[in-house]
Amino acid sequence: MPNSVLIKKKIKPFINKIFVTSDKSLSIRCVLLASVAIGTSKIKNLLESDDVLNALKAVKKLGIKYIKKKNLYFIYGSGLNGLSTNSKLVLNAGNSGTLARLVLGLLARTKGQIKVIGDKSLSKRDFSRVVNPLKNFGINIKSKNGCLPVEVFGGEFLRPIYYEENRGSAQCKSAVLFAALNTAGITKIKAKKSRNHTELLLKSLKMPIKIKSTKKFDFIELKGLREFKGFDYNIPGDISSSAFYIVLTLLTKKSRITIKNININESRTGVIKILNMMNAKILYLNKRIYKGEKIADIFVESDNKLNSINCPEYLNSSAIDEFLVIFLVAAKAQGVSQFKNLDELNKKESPRLEIAIRFLRMIGVTVKRKGNNIKIYGNPNLNLKGKYVVKNFLKDHRVFMMSCIAALVFGGHWKINDKESIKTSFPNFIKILKKLGAKIN
Ligand code: S3P
Repeated sequence: MPNSVLIKKKIKPFINKIFVTSDKSLSIRCVLLASVAIGTSKIKNLLESDDVLNALKAVKKLGIKYIKKKNLYFIYGSGLNGLSTNSKLVLNAGNSGTLARLVLGLLARTKGQIKVIGDKSLSKRDFSRVVNPLKNFGINIKSKNGCLPVEVFGGEFLRPIYYEENRGSAQCKSAVLFAALNTAGITKIKAKKSRNHTELLLKSLKMPIKIKSTKKFDFIELKGLREFKGFDYNIPGDISSSAFYIVLTLLTKKSRITIKNININESRTGVIKILNMMNAKILYLNKRIYKGEKIADIFVESDNKLNSINCPEYLNSSAIDEFLVIFLVAAKAQGVSQFKNLDELNKKESPRLEIAIRFLRMIGVTVKRKGNNIKIYGNPNLNLKGKYVVKNFLKDHRVFMMSCIAALVFGGHWKINDKESIKTSFPNFIKILKKLGAKIN
């Protein structure tokens, strides 16, 4: 099986209804929390992508049993300090920063010596951002120059911490919350706004968590050493996966799409806010609330004239995984778009800011960069005729998927490498594109 795709035709106008795969952030959190609950959790519609399968493998190594029956995973949790951590273990987080960082928090009271490793891309990412706050709890933990492998030896006498999270990183905040679960006393966090699934899950489990929110920060207090029972959770669709089809629709004439059952938690919907500020037509239908999370169907219609944006910085964290496709819209919009302080974008599975700039210039779009700020000079008549090859991007799943969308809406002859990368987050990405009429070899 070749690991690349060829795209030689734009997609034709389409009107369709689709489901995308389940939310990755919620899937990983459900697996980890279920493993330290007391008794059985039933997780419906768990995302079966590599990042989540690696989470299941990790908890299995830690002694947790699970079985799958139809679309339900039964996970048999063994309580807060019930993971089998006596022996030397190696947990491989693969490509997943979320798994690697969150599991470190969960291992706060490990008795053995646990090493967390990952693939080439994850091994280049910064782990000092979680190792340092975890050390403050009194956890014995060390990393190699702030990168993987990270080794945890646990700690017997943990103390609650006060932690200021200033990057807008939900992974850092959640790693600290997971360690706080295992620590007597109240851990206090002042966190720059970021996705709040961990907090909402802990709330729905009736854990002693208090949250006060301001426009920029969340102030969180969590009392540790409270056991919780196994839980049921039905995981909604992933807005980050939806974003590819939202942009595909916006940039294809006379098209409409409804994407069913998507998590539209405010801390994730930066992409919708940004695109609607650019005059896109994106609506929420059938809004409802499930365990504190907002869910809706997303309706998108093309043909509105798209304008440039001076993107407000406060939306960066809530759109962090979607900037690659947002940039495609900016490339086709009328006027010059500006995006500021995107340093965190370079800290992802690949340095996505660098890669986006290279990519846009490759297709003839003018991009100016000053530090971590960029200006994209939009061209509503952007229409490609050349040959394009996309490779060498650390097998980043989102770069692969963004490139497919660019090929399908801008034209040209494309060879896009590393198709296998979609297994990380969205294994049926291409199947859905084909259902919408895309011609992909
Ligand atoms: C995630 C948080 C974000 C995001 C990642 C998933 C999570 O990372 O980019 O894809 O599930 O907590 P950071 O928290 O490092 O910004």
